[in-house]
Amino acid sequence: MRHIVLCLMLGGVVAPVWADEVDIENGKNLHNTHCNACHQSMSEGDPNQLYTRENRRVTNAGQLQNQVQRCSLNLRLEWFDTEINDVSAYLNQQFYHFKP
Ligand code: HEC
Repeated sequence: MRHIVLCLMLGGVVAPVWADEVDIENGKNLHNTHCNACHQSMSEGDPNQLYTRENRRVTNAGQLQNQVQRCSLNLRLEWFDTEINDVSAYLNQQFYHFKP
């Protein structure tokens, strides 16, 4: 299944691919390890406030995935798509609740 999804992505279909075959626990661990400190410094101590604030930037699933990718690239993490998907799925389940 993942293979098919990847092919679709390479074909330029922009679709959120994190609906199935994601590892939310892995996403959570990756997120808390790499992403919290900087967000925390931006928001009075609660790193997750960025995701729940009223004027949050991300408003759909595709944007969420893009933002995760952008932030991970800033960190030079060189994550695979699977890791980006895991983290996106974790953030969606926990905070954003977009429909796939
Ligand atoms: C060096 C600092 C820094 C690090 C590290 C960082 N981010 Fe961010 N993140 C930001 C900034 C700055 C914003 C944008 C805030 C804004 O536009 O108001 C942001 C915004 C976001 C948003 C959008 C929040 C919204 O408004 O809906 C997501 C999602 C996000 N980051 C995910 C991640 C993930 C995942 C990681 C770890 C791979 C990460 N970030 C690591 C600085 C960082």
